[in-house]
Amino acid sequence: MSWHGHMALPLAAMFLALFGRAAPGAANSSFAVAVEGPAAVPYGEDALVNCSTTCPAAEAAGGLETSLAKELLRRGPGWLAVQLRNVTEPRARLLCYFTCFGQRKTAALTLEAYRFPDPLLAISAPNASLHEPVAVECSAVPSQPPGLQLWLRSNRWAQASGTEGHVRLELTAREEDDGLEFVCEAELLVGNQTLRKSSAPATLRVFYGPRMDEAGCPHRQNWTEGQEVTLRCSARGNPPPRVQCAQHGRPFPVAEAWTAARAHAGTYLCRAINRLGETERVVEVLVDYYDPPVLPAVLPVVAVLVAALLAGIIYGIYYRKKKIQEYELRKKQRQLEMQQLEMQPLSGHSPEAAASNGSAPAAGP
Ligand SMILES: *[C@@H]1O[C@H](CO)[C@@H](O)[C@H](O)[C@H]1NC(C)=O
Ligand SMILES: *[C@@H]1O[C@H](CO)[C@@H](O)[C@H](O)[C@H]1NC(C)=O
Ligand SMILES: *[C@@H]1O[C@H](CO)[C@@H](O)[C@H](O)[C@H]1NC(C)=O
Ligand SMILES: *[C@@H]1O[C@H](CO)[C@@H](O)[C@H](O)[C@H]1NC(C)=O
Ligand SMILES: *[C@@H]1O[C@H](CO)[C@@H](O)[C@H](O)[C@H]1NC(C)=O
Ligand SMILES: *[C@@H]1O[C@H](CO)[C@@H](O)[C@H](O)[C@H]1NC(C)=O
Repeated sequence: MSWHGHMALPLAAMFLALFGRAAPGAANSSFAVAVEGPAAVPYGEDALVNCSTTCPAAEAAGGLETSLAKELLRRGPGWLAVQLRNVTEPRARLLCYFTCFGQRKTAALTLEAYRFPDPLLAISAPNASLHEPVAVECSAVPSQPPGLQLWLRSNRWAQASGTEGHVRLELTAREEDDGLEFVCEAELLVGNQTLRKSSAPATLRVFYGPRMDEAGCPHRQNWTEGQEVTLRCSARGNPPPRVQCAQHGRPFPVAEAWTAARAHAGTYLCRAINRLGETERVVEVLVDYYDPPVLPAVLPVVAVLVAALLAGIIYGIYYRKKKIQEYELRKKQRQLEMQQLEMQPLSGHSPEAAASNGSAPAAGP
């Protein structure tokens, strides 16, 4: 290019800029150039960018400068769409340019190729035995840009534990850890965006033999005769144990509703079994009962008996009194007879005496 050629463009632009506004109807030389595209793409993928201008001149020439492999997809008036292939450069600078009425303008875009590895979750013993040490690990290969943040979350924790690099959790399998679900989450800051990914969830299973305690299988159970009751006996264990109870060797249904009878009282032997073992527990069942009170039924009978007894006593007393009176009377009569016999002479008239004697009571008051 000649010296003149270099100077000609800015001069023409200045001229147009000055006179374009001053003289209405002249070509409008104030134009803009823009480049649209993603700020970041996953490593090795393609990106589509659109380089455009507001220049009204249909013949405005432009292009996209980049070190990346590119392919012109389509072109329109004032724009061109470019496909960038196999983006692997961590930070590539794209320069979009247009020349409008001799003036050249550019717009830049930085395109990041990032590597966001999948977070990996591993449980050392997903089918653990009780008290077995278990390690839960969340990891990922290095990211680009560096600074991948990893989080280990569980369905039973409010908080996740997170670090850069990898997270490791060690625990000793407890009964309550059965069903503990883990997920590994990753966060990567690309440009001014935070990208997130999660691993597939993994569940910890804790297996153990049956256990029975006072809470699940009370040693003493009180029933009341006639009431609906159940023999309560459940066992913990994984897999869930089967529980069977028997009284004197005869099986008795567990956790089923029954009407309690006093014959149910006694000692029961309950046995819980799963594939990891078995255990036994003795249950004493007491049955409370009360017989309906007998007093109300017997009371009338007692009353009648008492009345009869009283009547008997009263009659007895009356009868005795009457007997005494009769005796007294007879005694008096005999005394009177004796007196009369004494008063009469020995050669007395017996019939007279008898007559007087007979009339004596009648003559009395
Ligand atoms: C020139 O074009 C721009 C954008 O197309 C517009 O905003 C501006 O008003 C125009 N100026 C004149 C003098 O026409
Ligand atoms: C590119 O941008 C221009 C201006 O915004 C638009 O008219 C055109 O349709 C775009 N092309 C593609 C392929 O998106
Ligand atoms: C993408 O680029 C990398 C390195 O520049 C190269 O190793 C790889 O083969 C390319 N992949 C494709 C599909 O072109
Ligand atoms: C854990 O147990 C389940 C069945 O309960 C089985 O499907 C799975 O393969 C077991 N996993 C391992 C790692 O042993
Ligand atoms: C950050 O994001 C906002 C919109 O989400 C965007 O307008 C801005 O240009 C971005 N900044 C950088 C430095 O990428
Ligand atoms: C059951 O009855 C026995 C004896 O009457 C008593 O000692 C025990 O506390 C009772 N238990 C319950 C749970 O009511």
